[in-house]
Amino acid sequence: MSTTENRAEFGSTLGFILSAAGSAVGLGNIWKFPGKAYACGGGAFLIIYLIIVALVGTTVMMAEFTIGRKTHKNAVGALRELNSKWGWVGGLGILTGFIILCYYCQVGGWTLYYIAAYITDVQTVWADPMAYFLGMLGANGFPLAAIIWALVFLFLTAFIISHGTAGIEKMSKILMPVLFILLIGLMIRACTLPGADEGVKYMLHVDFSTINTTAILTALGQAFFSLSLGMGVMITYASYLSSDDNLISNTGIICVLDTCVALFAGFMIIPAVFATGIAPGMGGGFAFATLAGVFMAIPGGQFMGLLFYFLLFFAAVTSSTSILEGTVSFLVEEKGMERKKTLVIVSCIMFVIGVFYTLSQVFMNLKGIWISKDGLQFPIFGDFLEYLTDRLLLPLGAFFTTFFVGWIWGTDKSIEEATSDGKFKFGLAPVYAFMVKFIDPIVIGVIIVAGMVFGMAIS
Ligand code: PHE
Repeated sequence: MSTTENRAEFGSTLGFILSAAGSAVGLGNIWKFPGKAYACGGGAFLIIYLIIVALVGTTVMMAEFTIGRKTHKNAVGALRELNSKWGWVGGLGILTGFIILCYYCQVGGWTLYYIAAYITDVQTVWADPMAYFLGMLGANGFPLAAIIWALVFLFLTAFIISHGTAGIEKMSKILMPVLFILLIGLMIRACTLPGADEGVKYMLHVDFSTINTTAILTALGQAFFSLSLGMGVMITYASYLSSDDNLISNTGIICVLDTCVALFAGFMIIPAVFATGIAPGMGGGFAFATLAGVFMAIPGGQFMGLLFYFLLFFAAVTSSTSILEGTVSFLVEEKGMERKKTLVIVSCIMFVIGVFYTLSQVFMNLKGIWISKDGLQFPIFGDFLEYLTDRLLLPLGAFFTTFFVGWIWGTDKSIEEATSDGKFKFGLAPVYAFMVKFIDPIVIGVIIVAGMVFGMAIS
């Protein structure tokens, strides 16, 4: 069982912000977001996304933070302490995290693959970026190298978890700002490539006829995924905070940082799509195939590309460790399993499931092993995993978290915790209470149901 005694606390507010922002900023911002913005119509999607983050994202995050800090426990223990019947919501989050990590590690492996490619083989990447990307995924035969790199990524994640995350937290003090600056630089370059202005226009042009239930559900799922919400990660992180920390400003800072990174990535990648004409059918190719066009066009492109994939890898690791820590600490603290053994078993299962994610992208479709809707356009197993987490499990987790705070634990208690018993000012407290009690559960609930009814038919 978990105990509240002897629990470490973050040494500084900056340490907490970096860890929580490190969890939030990851592949979701750079690999997923631009592809979704592109597919869902550009400007209108951006507006929907920003509204969802500002209203739903911030309030769900605050709800998770207050649960965590109040109880100083992991997600399951925290909910159970506040109400003995509600521990299962934390359990749902652990399951979601497990599924996410199966495919997250595969894409993390692709970043390592590209680091190696930019060191040894950049001319081949640049000669035909799309062919190279598809080749990595098995267009020319079994994608053994991609799978091995995914194994390396998973191993590194597990290794960091077993040796403590203090080291990467120190590194993120330097590397996160570097990533931020590099993204701004690359965004500016991408937007000034010949032909890129069409992409900028696409991202700024607001046409609400492109918005349907699928687009709204996509934006909602993407917001939860990107902010690491709906699976208890933020509950766990806040459990290490003391009442001296201001949850209100921390929520704002983390949401703004994460959203800025997603927007920078969008305004870097979509203009590059228009400038280079490389528009992969699947979301994954954007951060890999499309960006080659940007690196080719800048002096020192090989080095910049290398730096970019290294930082992307680092951002991915600070996210993957936050998910794995949740799964492992649950099994250790709540189920009494031994830590090292748990890590090995969990990692092995994740790896086996994850391999099918990579294989389903291209290889299985080509071999006809997996039934595909549109050839390379629709990797069924991969999409299934992402739909399951982004469109169903994460929104469900957020739904139950807000319902719990609004109706079971009580918004008064949550606000009391948010302000550290009145120490910090929370002018928007009534708005927060209203959102958590009514709007969040209703909106999230309606979108989940609408998505299930209408969304499944559309990719
Ligand atoms: N937010 C991370 C990203 O954008 C992924 C993540 C999801 C991490 C859920 C923790 C929990 O890449």
